Amino acid sequence: SGELLTLESMSTREISAVLQEAERFASGKSWRAEKEIFVANLFFEPSTRTRFSFEVAEKQLGLQVLSFTGENSSVQKGESLLDTVKTFEAIGANVLVIRHPKNEYYEEIGKNLSIPIINAGDGSGHHPTQSLLDLLTIQQEFSSFRGLNVIIAGDLRHSRVARSNADVLTRLGAKVKVAGPKEWMTGYADTYEHVSLDEALSYADVVMLLRIQHERHDGEMTWTKNDYHQQYGLTIERESQMKRNAIILHPAPVNRGVELASELVECSRSRIFKQMKNGVAVRKAVLKRALEIEKFLF
Ligand code: CP
Repeated sequence: SGELLTLESMSTREISAVLQEAERFASGKSWRAEKEIFVANLFFEPSTRTRFSFEVAEKQLGLQVLSFTGENSSVQKGESLLDTVKTFEAIGANVLVIRHPKNEYYEEIGKNLSIPIINAGDGSGHHPTQSLLDLLTIQQEFSSFRGLNVIIAGDLRHSRVARSNADVLTRLGAKVKVAGPKEWMTGYADTYEHVSLDEALSYADVVMLLRIQHERHDGEMTWTKNDYHQQYGLTIERESQMKRNAIILHPAPVNRGVELASELVECSRSRIFKQMKNGVAVRKAVLKRALEIEKFLF
């Protein structure tokens, strides 16, 4: 099927093929669907980058975009997720791009749909297109993943980006370690070595920072923003300890001055805006793959 729910079900060979196609799009490849195909972007959680980079990708591929957010819809009258997606299927959507706060929301709706879902983020579960755009950004920098030292730092427990990335980077041959408050390492500590950022900066090729997800913490943060920054964040002083060619990634939005010093968002090591640009190319590759597998083009 053309669906993309997590990267777990994709082989490294398939991932490499998607990255290759994304690289072609990033280098200027132009491709448009010749038939009328509707893609519904259903966002039940806030989004800037994912929602609008999907929309740019869809428009550049010549697809018809249906742009839906929960706030302005019959969800407000109590309509369920299943009835919402069945509605889009009934009115002619060919592909659904969905972001939803519930982990694995797709389990309850997938079996009742005959059109593919592309997961744009489920709760603290997965965010496969974010992982692919992170991989593309790393590949452009280092050509290969094998042997790269990648540190994923910060709020891992609440992060759907960390989960997707730690697993796929390991499969691709990178050495992944985690850093940040010990109590935020739940689910990672058994598999990945927990290191201090200070220690890891001498050998890290990629420092992947995560946003502190205040909305998923229920007010349990015990540090002030500045205390957190000094103890666990990438400060200007820590950035100066990084290897010459090492890069900084962050999925954004960034809490400036908390996980990352505000001055470093646009520094020469930062690939944060490159990641966003790559998001359009990756989403084009994922959409084209879905259309080809579902045989919508023929
Ligand atoms: N990185 C990311 O998913 O950003 P948005 O929440 O703005 O889509």
